Amino acid sequence: MQSSYVWLTLLGASLCAACLLGCAAVAPSGGNINAQPFGKTKEGTPVDIFTLRNKNGVEARICNYGGIVVSLKVPDRNGQMSDVVLGYDKLDDYIKSSPYFGCLVGRYGNRIAKGKFTLNGNVYTLATNNGPNALHGGIKGFDKVVWEAKVLGSHDGPTLQLRYLSKDGEEGYPGNLSVTAVYTLTEDNGLKLDYTATTDKDTVVNLTQHTYFNLAQKGDILNHVVMINADKFTPVDSTLIPTGELRPVEGTPFDFRKPTAIGARINQDDEQLKFGNGYDHNWVLNKPMGQLGLAARVSEPTTGRVLEVLTTEPGLQFYTGNFLDGTLKGKGGWVYQFRNAFCMEPQHYPDSPNHPEFPSVVLKPGKTYKNTIIYRFSTSK
Ligand code: GLA
Repeated sequence: MQSSYVWLTLLGASLCAACLLGCAAVAPSGGNINAQPFGKTKEGTPVDIFTLRNKNGVEARICNYGGIVVSLKVPDRNGQMSDVVLGYDKLDDYIKSSPYFGCLVGRYGNRIAKGKFTLNGNVYTLATNNGPNALHGGIKGFDKVVWEAKVLGSHDGPTLQLRYLSKDGEEGYPGNLSVTAVYTLTEDNGLKLDYTATTDKDTVVNLTQHTYFNLAQKGDILNHVVMINADKFTPVDSTLIPTGELRPVEGTPFDFRKPTAIGARINQDDEQLKFGNGYDHNWVLNKPMGQLGLAARVSEPTTGRVLEVLTTEPGLQFYTGNFLDGTLKGKGGWVYQFRNAFCMEPQHYPDSPNHPEFPSVVLKPGKTYKNTIIYRFSTSK
């Protein structure tokens, strides 16, 4: 095992034919990573699934189609391991129809109003794939492409590097954008995602991660208790585009500064909750942008599982699975019903290209876009 890891490292750690047949590489931290074929896209491109395990037995399975986290097994307070993310058993199901289960999102996470923005005086037109707006990078966003995968040697834990070149004009965005997404399963039970990106023309970038969590792995998520480290949020119009206001959460159902059950206020008579059919909003995080810090903590009382979300991003989209409606059958035959999961998507604010008052999402040649997201697991009594 150790020798296969060294061998991988010496060869530039590239994924080898032997690994495609299922060999395991051992990370210096004591975890390991293993690759298996996961199927083919409609165009016949092979897709692999990588199993990352840390020394505590936490396991993440990630495929290089969309960089999707297909499963994530973490312990409850009794040490019982369960998969805490929604998704499918088979690649074909992800390709057929997925509400962004577990994927990498880009080139622009969340919405751009009417699929239009202006940069340096040029108007760019994107496909409108969500009512009047553009959502999550377009018709074929980063969630639907095959990323080039490489197993890396790392002291933090088993590490998978995914790379994708988004060509100038793809989905209407300017500039060749070269993106690297590195997943590491850390020794302290964190799934860490480090994004970097560079461009050859001015462009806009907003990358995030779209895992659907249910820490009890059954039923709805209304009893999960959430803390969001934010004094303000960005209210939206009826098409979920921010109005531009940064509204204090004080006195509203959006105040999660003290841990509160998701279901405690979700059905209140509140215009913002009606627009989202629940929570589907961006919170303005209380921390300096670019600095890694705690965005949210979620705990599930029956299992004791705790998820902490850390990020360098200025915002957090908290979405309570309001579009799940019982039409998708997922892993192990679970039919995903209304609010059976929640997402925590660290990001820049939605529609930032049309809001000069929001933190900028413009990336210029010679600069490197950076974004770190950590989903870290523990338990409470
Ligand atoms: C984000 C959006 C939601 C929805 C989901 C995917 O969370 O804000 O409105 O589009 O992605 O279904």
